[in-house]
Amino acid sequence: MNIHVLTLFPDMFLPVTQSILGRAEEKGLLQVRVINIRDYTLDKHNRTDDTPFGGGAGMVMSPEPAFRALEAIGAQGKRILYPSPRGKVLDQSLIEDLAKQEDVVILCGHYEGVDQRILDHWEMEEVSIGDYVLTGGELPAMVIIDAVARLIPGVLGSPDSHLEESIYSGLLEYPHYTKPREFRGLSVPEVLVSGNHQLIHLWRFEESLKLTKERRPDLLEEFVRAADSLTKQEKKILRGILESEE
Ligand code: ADE
Repeated sequence: MNIHVLTLFPDMFLPVTQSILGRAEEKGLLQVRVINIRDYTLDKHNRTDDTPFGGGAGMVMSPEPAFRALEAIGAQGKRILYPSPRGKVLDQSLIEDLAKQEDVVILCGHYEGVDQRILDHWEMEEVSIGDYVLTGGELPAMVIIDAVARLIPGVLGSPDSHLEESIYSGLLEYPHYTKPREFRGLSVPEVLVSGNHQLIHLWRFEESLKLTKERRPDLLEEFVRAADSLTKQEKKILRGILESEE
């Protein structure tokens, strides 16, 4: 998969060359190409923005360098994202959709925004990473890259980790524990050291349900609507959680 990022601040993308994402690049599973929009300006002072028509504060990204950069990477026909607080709020289903693409383009805006003709002509999808305002699209772009990359087969260490997650998909994660079994008087739930995989699974499922009910009742409602493939025991646990008062 190729992710093409157009930005005025290419150095900000150092983090995506590290760790898991760095290894994904080395293995040829993911290519993140960072393109400096300024390289495509025709302005003699290398400017990439200008004052807004109609007046107002801030600067607006000019169409010329953005169009030329998009043409240079052959963005026509590819999915092009524009991170913006005005956009559709990013969720896992959009990330899953993006992970199926061969190419994704992300244009990072700054200052007051970009000339609307860039968004309209290139049919960009505006995406928000939450209801707060950042100074630019670079951090949201890295959030998107990270979330997409971990879905590419081979990027995460163990192929099991997806499988595991799918049983609990739509729920918040259950608590994790590691050695030692006893730490400064704090112990690990007994069931996890029982060696009984069925009991462990049911305990984890119940913990996931409890956490989801407490913290994200909206997600639990959605889970209940879609929960037709549960086993008898899982259904019983779900009923217990839904009926409990806490
Ligand atoms: N740019 C500025 N704020 C943003 C946000 N919350 N999400 C996506 N892009 C942004």
